[in-house]
Amino acid sequence: MSAQSQKARAAEAALEYIEDGMIVGLGSGSTAALFVKALGRRCAAGDLSIKGIPTSRETEQIALEAGVPLIPIEQADRIDVAVDGADEVDGGFRLIKGGGGCLLREKIIADAADLMVVLVDETKLVETLGAFPLPVEVDPFGWTITAKKVFDALRRAGVERPLVDIRRQGDRSEPFITDGGHYILDCACGAIEDAYSVDAELLAIPGVVDHGLFIDQARVVIVGEDDDVKVMEL
Ligand code: A5P
Repeated sequence: MSAQSQKARAAEAALEYIEDGMIVGLGSGSTAALFVKALGRRCAAGDLSIKGIPTSRETEQIALEAGVPLIPIEQADRIDVAVDGADEVDGGFRLIKGGGGCLLREKIIADAADLMVVLVDETKLVETLGAFPLPVEVDPFGWTITAKKVFDALRRAGVERPLVDIRRQGDRSEPFITDGGHYILDCACGAIEDAYSVDAELLAIPGVVDHGLFIDQARVVIVGEDDDVKVMEL
């Protein structure tokens, strides 16, 4: 069975965490999109009354088309649950996110939510984070200087030979620009043994806006399998 149907199974299972009246953070990426569509079906059927806050313009569009009622984040006095995908998940529920470039808004919403639920297919489970390049969101001003500092910071944090590369748009002509107007540095690390050091070192660089390591945020990981779902709670 395909990763796509595993993702769909996880997305359906996440509906168990959604109750009437909740404010729901809507993640980005293909797995989160399946959840948003499933949520839209429940809302349209009148089974659920919730308000969503999207983590990207793309998710906003998907939610509007799916019929999920949205509110601006500024109008939310709380977020009950954030449901999102991930590029990698380790045994301590640490994540790499940002493959789609939405990590900053995803992190703001995950951090504000009472509960973060992560949806993945089996391929995303890893023993050690870092095979997936870590996205680091940076201000465009002085990004070449920031990139050198990111390289040094990763070395200090124990990554032996980091490769730091500016993410580019599809035709490669221009840098990719996030919803917040920033660039992304994709940092191939191989293995991240000490996520806390990487977090601290990167956040100490002035040009770094945030990075795709999510530590101590996910409390529930739902893994779509071929015939089932595995729900893991911390
Ligand atoms: C978006 O920026 C990411 O954080 C996604 O959540 C992550 O890349 C997972 O995406 P898929 O669900 O498409 O694999």
